Amino acid sequence: TNRKPVVAANWKMNGNRQLVDNAVQSIAKQSELKNNLDVVISPPATLFSYLDSAKKTYNSDVILAAQNISEFEQGAITGELSVHHVKEMGCQWVICGHSERRSLFGERSSVTAQKVLQAKKQGLKPIICVGETAEEYEAGKTYSRLTAQIEAIFNLGGEQAFTDSIVAYEPVWAVGTGKAASPELAQEIHHFIRGMIRAMSPVTAASVRILYGGSVTPDNAAALFSQPDIDGGLIGAASLVPEKFIKICQAAM
Ligand code: G3H
Repeated sequence: TNRKPVVAANWKMNGNRQLVDNAVQSIAKQSELKNNLDVVISPPATLFSYLDSAKKTYNSDVILAAQNISEFEQGAITGELSVHHVKEMGCQWVICGHSERRSLFGERSSVTAQKVLQAKKQGLKPIICVGETAEEYEAGKTYSRLTAQIEAIFNLGGEQAFTDSIVAYEPVWAVGTGKAASPELAQEIHHFIRGMIRAMSPVTAASVRILYGGSVTPDNAAALFSQPDIDGGLIGAASLVPEKFIKICQAAM
């Protein structure tokens, strides 16, 4: 395909300045990663400015992403960060609707949709996360769950919500469990997601990058990323070890 692969590191509530230096420097050393791949790091917000400076120090073109934003634009909402805040700190992309936001903070698909729209309005690229829980998977509800999650965004934002956006399929049963989806299953589901987007816009469906997330490691990355509808990955635990993360990046090219 002509879709540029993406490998995104989601550090979650981990990492420090030392990891920023290690990660940005080691990625910058791998010159083959430049141009052929979008490499993204999503650290905790306290590290945004340190990471932005490290990019200059090491001459890195790694893309800075926020892990979350408020669904509101501004106001009396103690403790939240708006899209304007993260944009001012150098974030170009933002993860929306990660399964941990949904499960731990009760984020509903309609709220995720509002976050996607906030991001689009300010020119940030959303990584729209979707995925079914173990319970839903076992009950055979994977496709209906994904349909509801994607429709919530389409209903609020139309097809434009997906234009130039990233979708990440993360089966919740595979996140942090060491049990990644098989390449065949992941391909089948990515194909389904692309099909849903095709029904809104064939042009967007052909260009939208759909990432797989959930226990990606240097050992399983190549088999997953070689599937026709898998355009890269959203990496949690393995992204905290720069040597592993780089191997996963190499597997995407
Ligand atoms: O955002 C990343 C995913 O939640 C995957 O996490 O690679 O630790 O399973 P994991």
